[in-house]
Amino acid sequence: MCGIVGYIGDRDVVEVLLSGLGNLEYRGYDSAGVALNDENQIKIFKSLGKLKVLRENLEAHKSELKAPKSGIGHTRWATHGTPTTNNAHPHTCNCGSLALVHNGIVENYKELKEELIQKGCIFKSQTDTEVVAHLVAHEFAKTHKLEDALRNATKKLTGAYALCVMHKDEPDKIVGVRKNAPMIIGLGDGENFISSDVPAIIEYTKKTIYIDDDEIAVITKNSVKIYDKDGREIQKKVEMLPWEPVALSKLGYKHFMLKEIYEQSDVVRNVINGKIFDINEPVRLPEVNLTQENLKTLSRVKIIACGTSLHAAMVGKYIIEDFTGIPVDIEASSEYIYRKSNTDASTLVIGVSQSGETTDTITAIKQAKSTGSHILIITNRPDSNMARLADSLLSVNAGIEVSVAATKSYTAQLVSFYLLALHLAEIKGSMEKSKIESIKHDLIILPSKIEALLSDTKTIKDCAKKYSGYKNFIYIARGINLATAYEGALKLKEISYINATGYPAGELKHGPIAMLDETMPVLAVLMPGSIVYEKIFSNCEEAKARNAKLIALTSEDTPAIRSLFDDVLIVPKVHEFLSPILTCIPLQLLAYYIAEFLGKDVDQPRNLAKSVTVE
Ligand code: AGP
Repeated sequence: MCGIVGYIGDRDVVEVLLSGLGNLEYRGYDSAGVALNDENQIKIFKSLGKLKVLRENLEAHKSELKAPKSGIGHTRWATHGTPTTNNAHPHTCNCGSLALVHNGIVENYKELKEELIQKGCIFKSQTDTEVVAHLVAHEFAKTHKLEDALRNATKKLTGAYALCVMHKDEPDKIVGVRKNAPMIIGLGDGENFISSDVPAIIEYTKKTIYIDDDEIAVITKNSVKIYDKDGREIQKKVEMLPWEPVALSKLGYKHFMLKEIYEQSDVVRNVINGKIFDINEPVRLPEVNLTQENLKTLSRVKIIACGTSLHAAMVGKYIIEDFTGIPVDIEASSEYIYRKSNTDASTLVIGVSQSGETTDTITAIKQAKSTGSHILIITNRPDSNMARLADSLLSVNAGIEVSVAATKSYTAQLVSFYLLALHLAEIKGSMEKSKIESIKHDLIILPSKIEALLSDTKTIKDCAKKYSGYKNFIYIARGINLATAYEGALKLKEISYINATGYPAGELKHGPIAMLDETMPVLAVLMPGSIVYEKIFSNCEEAKARNAKLIALTSEDTPAIRSLFDDVLIVPKVHEFLSPILTCIPLQLLAYYIAEFLGKDVDQPRNLAKSVTVE
């Protein structure tokens, strides 16, 4: 959730660090800082708030800098200690000889802090990180070699960390290590980079080395060396990043979220590209690394995810069960990890994650893997830690998603689930050919429906304006669109901070109906196809009788709808099974425009981070 960037080379170090941190800004943070190695002196600058405050701070102290040749920077998302300048990273030791930045949580920091205080360390912050800075300094005093000091210090730590450290006595190097937190090296010509994520370095290089747990990276201007936990040098594969720097541009849109919403037709095309060639041909999914026999006899599926990815999992459960008859459970990763696991070698476990770095899901997947389950990961980041745990990897190809609120990665996850469910149904022979063909046909033409939907958003904007003053909403649905109600409500909560609850429409009468009156609008997703359409209609009549304002999200523009509902958001007609891919989009836009009207920070909502790397 914090962002790390380090640079050593001939460019303007301050600029490289600030631009790298800027490209990590979307991950969400509360303070930022840099440490510069300036003619063998460590100089630290930290600021509370957005990066521009740090930039102004550095600008104001420009005259104090001579010629920094290396530096490390950090954006912090507070875990231990409130967001303050003192708690911001980098942290240092008593004498200020080193600077250290950290992403993760040191679980045993309290014990270590006690010991270090006994040894004379003076703490200036409330963070767990400062403990590591003092520890490394102590170790450095023994060996005078930064990589050895960092290795020895990390042996005392429990928890998760990506750490980068510099020392004034070894001005030509930056040293990094990681455990259960991402870290990559960017290779340049006469310069090198280290970072917690790709966007920080993509402007400068695509050549990358991924660091694994417990490995120590030593970067200098002209070399990168990686050592294992015992200090032996190891050779690592150099990989080329699949992203382009343009992915980090808003391309004229006011916010990344809006740009990403508008990218969804192309995203659907990308996901099905190379997977569905013709409606008569089987779905091609060679990524699923199980034999036909294994797939035919598959008796159980478990899907683990968090947040928006969990909502995609809900749709996944619905269609896999419907298309194949295989029982599917879904569970929030954070719940799965603290109870007796019931997965085993006969269970296909699917982990879903946009970032591939969500700690709860990674932990859950590791646990499931240890029970012998086959692990299939659906992620937008094939370079992530979660992807590395996969026995089968389904990369959703949505492109980098910058806005904290997930939009296009959700549609990409949904489409991936449709491909998987169709693939399983074809192998098992569990679904009529005509139904499979009609779903494939509708999937192929879905991007044009998304384009039609996005070509006229006036009604959604008007609706957003009309309802932006309400403090509470209920979003209801049944069947395959229940996940749409949950996801739409989550979007509204995340970026506008309005209380919105997703609820099964049939459950309204079992409790929440007590809250309904003219102050609580009810948004209903009612897509024709199955019996639930009529049922939701009746549930809405019940809400209307309690004076609730009603908003319909439907493809049915009928007099009956117009007379019952106060406002109607129309989507193109679509096969009910595929409708969640379409219905999520007006709700993303509704949340977006409400947040816009309220003047919220759409791309970086308060308290949230793009990838949640703490438990
Ligand atoms: C979605 O808008 C949120 N940012 C959040 O719920 C997110 O989906 C969740 O934290 C899971 O992240 P992941 O998909 O990267 O694992």
